[in-house]
Amino acid sequence: MADTATAAPPALAAALGEIRQDIDRAFDGLLPVPEDPRARLVETMRYAAIGGGKRLRPLLLITVAQMFGADRESAILAGCAIEAIHIYSLVHDDLPCMDDDAMRHGKPTAHIAFDEASAVLAGDALLALAFEILTMPEVSSDPFVQSELVSILARASGVNGMAGGQMMDIAASEASFDVHAITRLQQLKTGALLGAAVEMGAALAKLPPEGRGPLLNYARDIGLAFQIADDLLDAEGDEVLAGKALRKDDGQGKQTFLTLMGAEGARAQADALADQAIAHLAHYGEEANLLRDLARYIVERDR
Ligand code: IPE
Ligand code: IPE
Ligand code: MG
Ligand code: MG
Ligand code: MG
Repeated sequence: MADTATAAPPALAAALGEIRQDIDRAFDGLLPVPEDPRARLVETMRYAAIGGGKRLRPLLLITVAQMFGADRESAILAGCAIEAIHIYSLVHDDLPCMDDDAMRHGKPTAHIAFDEASAVLAGDALLALAFEILTMPEVSSDPFVQSELVSILARASGVNGMAGGQMMDIAASEASFDVHAITRLQQLKTGALLGAAVEMGAALAKLPPEGRGPLLNYARDIGLAFQIADDLLDAEGDEVLAGKALRKDDGQGKQTFLTLMGAEGARAQADALADQAIAHLAHYGEEANLLRDLARYIVERDR
């Protein structure tokens, strides 16, 4: 994939570059290829997980964790856990029974490069890997922190998170959703995992729940802004930069903020959400600058 950081200011560009290397290195260590027929499964997982993607969820998790004093190596591993869920969701999202896409991260999708059965199993195994990682002592030696991380990620991945949102997304091709239903769909499909990234960073740093409010409000706003930006990219973006097929939503009859309010309205909404997200960080100092930059980048990105 080409440089992910064109629309990012220097500090954020550097952080994105560093996280990409850290996550690639960590997945490489987590996914040794066995010398038996399971090799194809692990090769499919490695193909999907290593060497692509902006790594925004790990960046959010690690940035918040480090803001409140957690160890970077632990946060990188927890970042791999949430990225494993994200990658699994993309592998399954691209399958013929879902969005039927042939390109992801600038290369053929997992089911095209391997086969459908391997892609389904690679998704399954990445989902399991995420929770295995979170119970490793290298993430935390505190069982309370471990179980909190597991609980946050599980909630954000299942019926009340990503998978539930994907089901609503499929239903949105048939039914007619109002702005409230589309907001809920987006919050589940995309917002939940972005919110989990922030909350897991706070949990890893043992920030008490009563101190997490502004961060969770920030996460809710960037989560929605992020999916609006993805939908705008689908309508207006460059396929080579995005590394995936675009102009899909319209053809599939997907209802998004664009279908409700047009591109200009959707862009204004995304910008307003980024402003609002940044406003939630008002009582943090420059230690939150990366989060502020990230809120802008999420709506201004070209991929
Ligand atoms: C794309 O997410 C799928 C959605 C949730 C809309 P990202 O834009 O974060 O995917 P990467 O960066 O290509 O992995
Ligand atoms: C997918 O949304 C969100 C997931 C939970 C995987 P999209 O279908 O819009 O994502 P892209 O555009 O294929 O990346
Ligand atoms: Mg989809
Ligand atoms: Mg898709
Ligand atoms: Mg999309």
